[in-house]
Amino acid sequence: MVYTIDDERRYIENLKQKIAELKKERRAVIIVHNYQREEVQDIADYTGDSLELSRAVINIAAEVIVFCGVHFMAESAAILNPDKKVLLPVKEAGCPMADMVTAEKLRAMRQNFPDAAVVCYVNSSARVKAESDICCTSSNAIEVVRSLPHKRIIFVPDKNLGAYIQNNVPEKEIILWNGFCPTHIRLTEEEVMEMKKIYPQAEFIAHPECRPEVVALADKVLSTGGMFKYVKNSPAKEFIIGTERGLVYRLKKENPEKKFYLPSEHLVCANMKLITLGWIAHSLEFMVHEVKVPEEIRVKAKLALERMLEVSQGAKWQAIAGY
Ligand code: 13P
Ligand code: SF4
Repeated sequence: MVYTIDDERRYIENLKQKIAELKKERRAVIIVHNYQREEVQDIADYTGDSLELSRAVINIAAEVIVFCGVHFMAESAAILNPDKKVLLPVKEAGCPMADMVTAEKLRAMRQNFPDAAVVCYVNSSARVKAESDICCTSSNAIEVVRSLPHKRIIFVPDKNLGAYIQNNVPEKEIILWNGFCPTHIRLTEEEVMEMKKIYPQAEFIAHPECRPEVVALADKVLSTGGMFKYVKNSPAKEFIIGTERGLVYRLKKENPEKKFYLPSEHLVCANMKLITLGWIAHSLEFMVHEVKVPEEIRVKAKLALERMLEVSQGAKWQAIAGY
């Protein structure tokens, strides 16, 4: 028997139908990161970057949160919403960068710099968050670091985001961890230069997880959520996209008159792409895989996340840390 494109379409439509029914039955909401597959973005109740998704889950009325992203994102939802059931459709969907730092190693590093504050990128485990003073995302990292009274900052785990912060906050000393995103690190300066040569009129927008030499070529450095807002408001008609390819789907949908170019075919996060419609249906049907955080870790990690959310709303460290 030959499997045709029509069969594929029918299969996808049936899965979408099944997910819609299960969602109602389970009182569930589907939260989707910007790097997810196109068909997963299509069934989202909410799509966004790490900060937008953390904010979105806080006031959710549904009983179940199906998190279509990677493990640390689902974990953040579980930390902020202990009363909800948070499901990660594929339990192996992790972030390799988040695994590059452990709570034990961070604690050891901290002993060498007792005067430093620890800022952790949300791409980290709940245990690492629990060891940190405050979290940040790619959209508020500079704001978070500037808000601290400390002169020295230990920043984990992304050395590229850390270097970007150091360039923008020269009055502080940023002690870097040797972590990186295996997807963004693949994008080279040469690839971007080549694209700029082909499309000289295009603006280059880059995620701060890219190498410093790539970030230096960017017209604008932005989180994934920031890229949508920027493209919408920019008078430019063409853009070179320095982040994971999943972004291009919504960019094209929201800006049909604009053009988008990916400078490398390797800008794919394999972990994000593990989540499929089939696994989402499976997770709702069997209520797997629930992401849970031990209470003593959750309470500490929540403090670091909440401090970040408060800084993003303009609060000062002295006020939120009870100084
Ligand atoms: P954003 O918060 O910008 O979406 O980034 C998340 C991420 O994992 C980037 O690789
Ligand atoms: Fe982690 Fe990089 Fe994938 Fe983002 S793109 S989830 S940082 S591996």
